[in-house]
Amino acid sequence: MDTKVWIVDKYVDKLENNPQVVDAAHFLRENEVVALPTETVYGLGGNAESDEAVAKIFMAKGRPSDNPLIIHIADKQQLTRFVKEVPEKAERLMDKFWPGPLTIIFKKKHGILSEKATAGLDTVAVRLPDHPVALALLQACQLPIAAPSANSSGKPSPTNAGHVLDDLNGKISGVLDGGPTGVGVESTVIDCTESIPVILRPGGVTKEQIEAVIGEVQLDPALLDEASKPKSPGMKYKHYAPDAPLYLVNGSKVFLQELVEEKQRDGLRVGILTTKENRSEYNAALVLACGKRSELETVATALYDTLRAFNQEKVDIIFSEMFPNTGVGHAIMNRLQKAAGNRIINE
Ligand code: TXA
Ligand code: MG
Repeated sequence: MDTKVWIVDKYVDKLENNPQVVDAAHFLRENEVVALPTETVYGLGGNAESDEAVAKIFMAKGRPSDNPLIIHIADKQQLTRFVKEVPEKAERLMDKFWPGPLTIIFKKKHGILSEKATAGLDTVAVRLPDHPVALALLQACQLPIAAPSANSSGKPSPTNAGHVLDDLNGKISGVLDGGPTGVGVESTVIDCTESIPVILRPGGVTKEQIEAVIGEVQLDPALLDEASKPKSPGMKYKHYAPDAPLYLVNGSKVFLQELVEEKQRDGLRVGILTTKENRSEYNAALVLACGKRSELETVATALYDTLRAFNQEKVDIIFSEMFPNTGVGHAIMNRLQKAAGNRIINE
């Protein structure tokens, strides 16, 4: 399959009439799949009401079929078509955070969306993205769009169109290239079907920000304890992994450098994931600064690009610094722990 690349300037007006966007929307209406930029990561979109389109998404990504997709909409009104009820707390969250990186789980009306998209569950995950190209595409096609991150299953999510092509070139109809995404980690997923909502995946909107709007929320126990079964099917899979094994180092810079030297003595090419502040303090084959530790948002923005960059340089092993587990640091640590398959070395 020939994968088209539609380059779109996200700053121009009336994007829904842009010929590139209209062409991509046409493919979606034909039940083909196309990748699109969102404010978090690139998504692989397909008509959420079509089994055929949804099957193509799972096929292109190599995604396990028990892992449901997030449904993207351009307008809150679209919810009534496939959502059974909108709880009051969900209403408040939508008012505050939509458009934006928050995915809300609702009870689902049966018979509208493809059962494959929701993996046959009684619930559905929905989000209204904050990206002009995504919104224009959703408006142009007038469909609810199922869109997981546009990476091969298990790889880091794509934060630019080049990452999408690295994984999916030849497997999808096209990619709308709207430049690099901003937030860098995926949306926060919150289950609002319970009276006390539960965060299933930490992401672009923090627990602290959510609690400021609706009061107490819970964290899915699986986020705190490896042994529990996550409520969000996708969270049980290994994810975001670079090709070389990654280890998180809970200790000083000197300790991390000692670990590097030990591996170098064994003849390995070692990579280090650090931040701008600490970069000059290390010595290794590849030392990559992933944003600035003093502004954790910049670490989130650069995280997946940095993880992918280690693959280009063919290192044998990667050591990463750790980050505080608060604010957006919660999402960063969640993704790093998955990328590392939970391998942590304590000083
Ligand atoms: O930022 C994002 O959310 C990106 C962009 C493209 O919108 N999308 C994304 O989708 O991260 P994906 O498929 O990579 O992750 C969706 C997560 C998975 O962990 C999945 O298990 C969970 O949402 N999920 C979807 N529907 C669910 C449901 N009904 N109940 C519980 N978890 C659900
Ligand atoms: Mg994903």
